[in-house]
Amino acid sequence: MKIYRTVDYQEMSRMAASILAAQIQQKPDCVLGLATGSTPIGMYDELVRQYQDGTLDFSLVKSVNLDEYKGLTREDEQSYSYFMNQHLFGRVNIHPENTYLPDGTQTDAGAECTRYEEVISRLGGVDLQVLGIGRNGHIGFNEPADSFARATHCVELTPSTIDANKRFFEKEEDVPRQAYTMGIGTIMRARRILLLASGADKAEALRGALYGPVTPRLPASILQFHPDVTVIADEAAFSAVR
Ligand code: GLP
Repeated sequence: MKIYRTVDYQEMSRMAASILAAQIQQKPDCVLGLATGSTPIGMYDELVRQYQDGTLDFSLVKSVNLDEYKGLTREDEQSYSYFMNQHLFGRVNIHPENTYLPDGTQTDAGAECTRYEEVISRLGGVDLQVLGIGRNGHIGFNEPADSFARATHCVELTPSTIDANKRFFEKEEDVPRQAYTMGIGTIMRARRILLLASGADKAEALRGALYGPVTPRLPASILQFHPDVTVIADEAAFSAVR
């Protein structure tokens, strides 16, 4: 595991963007695993800047997102599909047909999860997976549990996650209670993983993930078993590591 400690969010974002940019330059038709949430926004802004400068070309890039709220359409402003269009897809030359997310409108959870796993396999797997981390140590929407979920599945969101994500919604009742997410097995099959964390509210989760026991009670801790993980986090996120 390579661990980088940055001064602040901006430096974390720039460093993360440079890793994605290098991946795209080395393999222009790579498969990126992408994440939502506030953490990767600065990284996406930096990638857009490089695209606008003419130094980055997304024309062959393919992407698969980690997760999506169940019950929201792609056009819903709170959906992760909408988020990705706003922050990245709509601002660079990636082909929309090369971008994949779970379909939140599918009510047959089993069929949708199988379809999404097949999409990832058909693309040849993920070259570089970007991850944020939840305050409770979740990755994607893999919440603390008694065991690690292997494949894409439908989850019930925990009160902690609903509480953390309500800031994006008008009221807490509007936060969907379920989501589709890649499983821990899906994430662990990515060839490389980039974990980002910013802010003191992630400090305990990050410490546990990097230095605590590997346990499904703190899903990000499984990353200790992945052979190629890069962690970039700012000082505030490292504040619990002494
Ligand atoms: C959400 C997402 C995760 C994300 C996490 C942290 O629930 N499903 O993929 O990493 O929460 O979000 P943020 O970056 O806004 O703190």
